[in-house]
Amino acid sequence: MNGMECLGKSGEHDSTGGAGTPYEPNGTRAARSESSPHPCGHGVSGRALVVFCRRIGEVRSGWFPEEAALVEGAAECRRREFAAARGLAHEAMEKLGVAAAPVLRSERAPRWPEGVTGALGHASGRKGQDGWAAAAVGRADAVRGIGIDLEWAGRVGERLWSRLFNEAERRALEAMPEGEWQTLSAGIGFSAKEAFYKLFQPLTGRWADFHDATVTARQDGGFTLECAAELPGIPSRLEGRWMRPAPGEAPDLVLCLLALSVDGTSLLPDFPASFSVP
Ligand SMILES: CC(C)(COP(=O)(O)OP(=O)(O)OC[C@H]1O[C@@H](n2cnc3c(N)ncnc32)[C@H](O)[C@@H]1OP(=O)(O)O)[C@@H](O)C(=O)NCCC(=O)NCCS
Repeated sequence: MNGMECLGKSGEHDSTGGAGTPYEPNGTRAARSESSPHPCGHGVSGRALVVFCRRIGEVRSGWFPEEAALVEGAAECRRREFAAARGLAHEAMEKLGVAAAPVLRSERAPRWPEGVTGALGHASGRKGQDGWAAAAVGRADAVRGIGIDLEWAGRVGERLWSRLFNEAERRALEAMPEGEWQTLSAGIGFSAKEAFYKLFQPLTGRWADFHDATVTARQDGGFTLECAAELPGIPSRLEGRWMRPAPGEAPDLVLCLLALSVDGTSLLPDFPASFSVP
């Protein structure tokens, strides 16, 4: 099984899974009926926050007609990624115990239904393989803001470093031996900043430059993001998590997640950095 599914506040695992309707590019939720049980049998209960990441073709939930209308006329690959991330968001809402509802748009950012907040991301497919989609959804009474992002780490090559990373980050990357961790660190550095943007921009309406943020990735699956820009209500230092899909699955793909609790602290998902979903 390919995918990642996780999280909540407690560390208590369950195996319930949320049943969803299969993803169908032109289908809608209303047109589909419930199908097979959720094959991702790994989850954590006591949830304030649910995260799903899957290959686009494996997303089982459809989209609402109001969502489909937002990308009417767009290229098929755009409609697929848009539908897939929203399908995962619907599954996440259901897992949180909230009825799935359309995720519309406020400019480019998602507009979340009453009672929840969240973030979406996608990574286009490579080498003839399917792309990936991700959604993180939290209960609005516990979670103030969320950022999630997916990147192919290998794409964040050295030629991009000066644009994406400040001097301290570049020095740290250059000091690493060339290899997997250096590549992954660059991928996490970029993805964490994109996730941060998705968290703070809807809350503040502000802009921050890539060089304003300093990301320090750790091999234990955590990262720290410090931001020099003034962003009202956003702590200057946040703790986040990065993950990779199950071993053997898209080893180059990295997911970064940041969540801010209503009391202004980092909400740290207590899931492993990389795990297999049965
Ligand atoms: C907006 C941005 C972060 C999207 O990232 P991306 O890698 O291009 O695209 P992804 O597939 O990961 O994410 C796209 C999703 O982000 C979400 N998104 C777009 N703009 C957003 C915003 N202002 N706030 C929150 N979420 C936003 C949308 O849900 C979108 O998916 P959808 O159109 O299907 O609903 C990116 O295009 C961008 O503008 N980056 C520059 C800003 C930045 O990162 N500054 C550095 C901060 S330190």
